[in-house]
Amino acid sequence: STSGGIDRYEITQREASLEILPGVRTPLWTYGGTFPGPTIESRRGRPVTVAHRNELPVPTVVHLHGGRTPAASDGYPTDLVLPAGWPEAAPAKPHPAMNGHGTHGGGGHGMGGHGMNDPRAVVTRLTRDYTFPLDQRPTLLWYHDHRMDFTAPAIWRGLAGSHIVRDDAEEALGLPAGRHELPLMIADRAFDADGRLDYPALDPTLRERPGVRGSYLAGVLGDVILVNGAPWPVHEVDAARYRLRVLNASNARHYDLEAVGDDGRRLDLVQIGADQGLLAAPVTHSHLPIAPAERYDVVIDFAGVPIGSRVRIVNRLGSGRTRDVMAFRVARNVRDDSRVPRVLSNDLPNWRRSEAVRVREFSFRAGRMHGGHGWLIGGLPFDPARSDVTVGLGEVEVWRLVADVHHPVHLHLVGFRVLSRSGRPPLPHDAGLKDTVSLRPGESAEIITRFDGYRGRYLFHCHNAEHEDMGMMANLEVI
Ligand code: C2O
Ligand code: CU
Ligand code: CU
Repeated sequence: STSGGIDRYEITQREASLEILPGVRTPLWTYGGTFPGPTIESRRGRPVTVAHRNELPVPTVVHLHGGRTPAASDGYPTDLVLPAGWPEAAPAKPHPAMNGHGTHGGGGHGMGGHGMNDPRAVVTRLTRDYTFPLDQRPTLLWYHDHRMDFTAPAIWRGLAGSHIVRDDAEEALGLPAGRHELPLMIADRAFDADGRLDYPALDPTLRERPGVRGSYLAGVLGDVILVNGAPWPVHEVDAARYRLRVLNASNARHYDLEAVGDDGRRLDLVQIGADQGLLAAPVTHSHLPIAPAERYDVVIDFAGVPIGSRVRIVNRLGSGRTRDVMAFRVARNVRDDSRVPRVLSNDLPNWRRSEAVRVREFSFRAGRMHGGHGWLIGGLPFDPARSDVTVGLGEVEVWRLVADVHHPVHLHLVGFRVLSRSGRPPLPHDAGLKDTVSLRPGESAEIITRFDGYRGRYLFHCHNAEHEDMGMMANLEVI
C-alpha cells in the first residue's frame, strides 16, 4: 500500500511447513510464509517502509543487505524485535549450536547475552517498521535476519528474501527484462530423512557426509542446492538473452559458476553488474566465482542453443550432487529485441588513493575468544559495547583487509571499489561497486570508499554467517 508517498509492505515472520523436497514438508522460519520471502520491487529514491511482525518463537532483526539505510532501520544485531511472550530482561537461551560443541565455554559471546547489555539497543516487541530511503544505485539487495549470535541459524531456517531497486536510466538501456530477467537466490541446505533442516544448531548428531559440513566453526555446508527455494530447478527459457541476477545466500558455500550446454560447450557469462549496481561496461567471464552475500548481474544468451536441449549451471567447486546448481531448458525461438550496451553506466564512483584521509588495516583470523575458538577482526571478537572504527561522514578511506582463510567481508551502508589483491590489480569479477569482497586464503585486499549517507552505528563483518556469529564482526561508527 502507499501512504504519504511512502510505499508500505507488511511482512509477518512466522513458522511454515513448506514442500522443498518432493513429498515431504520442511518446517521453516519464513518471511510471510514463503521461502525465499517475498521479493520487493522499488524505485530508486522512493522510500519504502516494511512493517515486520515477529510471530516466530525467537527475537529477530531485519537487515537490508546493500541498502543505504539510516542506522535506526539498518538492523543492528541488538535492535531486537521480541516475540509476544519473550521476557524482556531474562537472559537469552544458550546458543543451540553450542550443545555438544562447547566451542565457547560458558557465558559471553555465543550466549546471546550481549543483546541485553547493549545500552544503545532499541528493542521493540512484536512489530517494527523499517524505513528504507533507497536513494542509491539500482541493484539487487537482499534482506535477512541479523540477530546477535544467531544470524547463521536464522538465515539457514529461511529468513532471507530479495529486494530489487530499479530506475528509469537502467530500464532505458534495453537489457533483457520481463520474463527474461530472473533473480536467482542460490542457497545450500542439508535435510534429514524426515525433510527437516539439518543444522548443527538443531541436531548436534549431524554427521559429515559427502557435501555436508557440520562444522560450526568452519561454516555449515549443505548437500542440497536450492535456487529460489527449489532443489536443482529446471527452468524453461526462450532462445534469447536473459538477465540473471545471481545472489549467493548460502551461509558458507562458495560457488564458481559456469554455464554448460548438452554438447559440452560453455556459454559466456556477460557480467553487467556487481553488488551495488551496473558496471561501467560489460565484462565477459567463462566462469564466475561468487562468495556468500555477493551478487552478480549476468547476461547469458541462449540463442543458438539447440531447441529442446539444456544448459546446466554448474559449480566448479562442488563435487557429486553439489556440482549441479540448476538447468535451463531452451524451449522455443523468439524474437529478441534486448541488448547489452557497451556503456552501461557513467555514475560509478572512482575514488583515488590520494583522496583517502587514512589507510586502516584489519586482520580477519581465527583466534581464541572466551576460552574457545572464534573468528576475530583485529584480534577481537564482536562486542556491541566497544567502539572499533570511527569515520567522518563524507570521508574517503582505504582499508586493507588481511585474511587467514576465505572470508567474504561486507560493509554496511556503503559500496566500495576493490583497489588491489595482495599487491596485484583486482580480478575481472572485482569490477564495479561492491559491498562484499571475497578474500581468498592468505590474501590481503585493499578497498576504497567514501563513508556517505548517514551518521550512526553500522557494522562490517565476515559474511560466512557462522564466522559472523562466532565473533567476526566489528562496529563502524559514522560521525
Ligand atoms: Cu548481509 Cu551485515 O549483512
Ligand atoms: Cu549488510
Ligand atoms: Cu569468515
